[in-house]
Order: sequence, then structure tokens, then C-alpha cells
Amino acid sequence: MTQELWTKVDRYINDLLIPPDPILDATLAASDAAGLPPHNVSPNQGKLLMLLALIHKARTILEIGTLGGYSTIWLARSLPADGRLITLESNPKHAEVARNNIVHAGLAHLVDLRVGYAIDTLPQLAAEGYNRFDLIFIDADKPSNPEYLEWAFKLSGCGSLIIADNVVRNGSVLEVNSNDPNVQGIRQFNEILSAQPRVTATAIQTVGNKGYDGFAIAVVTSDN
Ligand code: SAH
Ligand code: DHB
Ligand code: MG
Repeated sequence: MTQELWTKVDRYINDLLIPPDPILDATLAASDAAGLPPHNVSPNQGKLLMLLALIHKARTILEIGTLGGYSTIWLARSLPADGRLITLESNPKHAEVARNNIVHAGLAHLVDLRVGYAIDTLPQLAAEGYNRFDLIFIDADKPSNPEYLEWAFKLSGCGSLIIADNVVRNGSVLEVNSNDPNVQGIRQFNEILSAQPRVTATAIQTVGNKGYDGFAIAVVTSDN
């Protein structure tokens, strides 16, 4: 009565509120066919990301962790015609699949996909003059989450929204002495978030067809 029920309820929600979407279906099918891991957010989570970006009237979005471009497409759909989404992906194969999916979704003019380790690309973005994304979505390698959060602070201003996926990980976030670097990355991320005076934040637990996990959501309350 846990995973099975969550999956059924997710299907119920998605059937009611998320209209059939051939572009997103094709994105997941192409990702699967190319052997990418099914680590994309679920449809209702993707739509939550889009809604948050819409509520926030985001014009510039930074995503860390593209995979096949599923969350990228949800987020990019929130953007105005002159908006911009920069997404960072280290795996060239994932990036190629994502690029095709983004083109197929008609969003290539809004999306700038950068291939490379995010920890190398982030300082490059700063050097290019990027200093204030309206929304930053962190969803790549979890051991690097503390560094990505520090970069998110650097690349944000008053009002910027920072969102991170996978902050609960089946409850393993409670394991203080875990030797799983993913868990330690998430724990440090949550601690840095709690200690940063420039943000006000919360986290919510999520269940669904992707299991039991969570999103952290933070608003930056002052400029750098
Ligand atoms: N946001 C996606 C899922 C991302 S899965 C979605 O919801 O659809 C995590 C992605 O981060 C993977 O594609 C992985 O290759 C990428 N990744 C892992 N380490 C990385 C790094 N150091 N820099 C950039 N991307 C990385
Ligand atoms: C997994 C899930 C994710 O959402 C992610 O970003 C990375 C990995 C997983 O299920 O292992
Ligand atoms: Mg994730």
C-alpha cells in the first residue's frame, strides 16, 4: 500500500490534470531508446516546475542536470519569447539526446545546452556576465550539491528562486553517518541552505511513481 498506491494516484492526477502530450512522450521514448536512466522528474513534478516558473514570471532559468531534456522542456515552456534557459550536462550522449528532444519540442531558440562538468561551466557563466537567474533548478550529481548551491547563491539576486530535486531520497537524508556520498551531499546541501542568511527556504516530501523523495524550494531575499 505504498509505492503501488502512490503510482496509481499519480496516474489519476496525471490523467486528470496533464493533457496528453506527444512531445513529452516522445522525449521520454527517445531517452529510453537511447538507454538513458529514467531519472527524469515525473509529469506532475515537471508541471510543478513549469507552474513555479510561470508564477514567478521567470525570464532566465539555469538548470544543472539535463539528462534527456524532460524537465528542461517543462521549464522552457514557461518562458516568454525572449526568455533564456541554460542547462548543464556532463554526459555527451545525454546531451545529444536532449538536444534532439529540445529541437523536436520547438524550444531550441530558448535553450542553451552546455556540455561539460557543471563545476567547470558555472564559473564560465559567471565570467560571461551571468549574475542573476530568476530560477535555478539543481538536479545533477548529488555529491556536488553543496557546490551547486553555493554557485546558485552567486548566480542569483533578490527574488531568485532556487529549487533542488531529490532532497529526501527515501528518507536516507536522516542517516547522519551514511557513507553514501549522495546522502552526504544532500545533507550538506540542506545544512548550507539553513545557514545562508540570504535565503528563506522550505522542503517538501514527495511521493509518486518515482518513489519517495523531495523538493527543496528557496527564495533569495537580498542581492549579492
Ligand atoms: N533534470 C532531469 C534529470 C537529470 S538526471 C529531468 O528531470 O529530466 C541528472 C543528470 O545530471 C544526468 O544526465 C547526469 O549525466 C548529469 N550529471 C551528472 N554529473 C554531472 C556534472 N558533474 N555536471 C553536469 N551534469 C552532470
Ligand atoms: C535518481 C533520481 C533523480 O531524480 C536524479 O536526479 C538522480 C538519480 C535515481 O532514482 O537514482
Ligand atoms: Mg532528480
